[in-house]
Amino acid sequence: MPMSSPAPRLRIALVAHDHKKDDLLDWAKRNLPWLQRHSLVATGTTGALLERELAIPVRAVLSGPLGGDLQIGAEIAQGEIDVLFFFWDPLQAQPHDPDVKALLRAAVLWNIPFACNEASSDGLLRSPCLNNEYQRKMPDHTDYRNRYSGNGATN
Ligand code: PGA
Repeated sequence: MPMSSPAPRLRIALVAHDHKKDDLLDWAKRNLPWLQRHSLVATGTTGALLERELAIPVRAVLSGPLGGDLQIGAEIAQGEIDVLFFFWDPLQAQPHDPDVKALLRAAVLWNIPFACNEASSDGLLRSPCLNNEYQRKMPDHTDYRNRYSGNGATN
């Protein structure tokens, strides 16, 4: 009988805007056994809430408006995040709107699976994208990196 390998331990980023924090908390409570199997990072307030309400370890970066979205975006660019659950608020202007856009851009640029509302988060966590059946394509930005150097620089 073929052996199936265990589901990978994922590096999961969680972000919720203020009016979406209750939704994220409810979603996280419903999916606690799944979340507990993985490694969690969150923006400051979201992370503090998750730790307090769910008693799970969450590595918190700065609060979103203070640069937390950018920190998570940087971790995505460095290949340190596997999936993003981002409950952003479509009805409120955010003081850090450029950072929100940057985070979403990083997720698209680096082709990580991400979800931005509860229904898509429910779908994503049940998806083969988050287990061994799926190998996401790693984007190759070599041409972009080399467009001025012409010497094969790798940065
Ligand atoms: P917060 O940040 O978790 O620190 O509230 C979320 C955000 O607004 O990006």
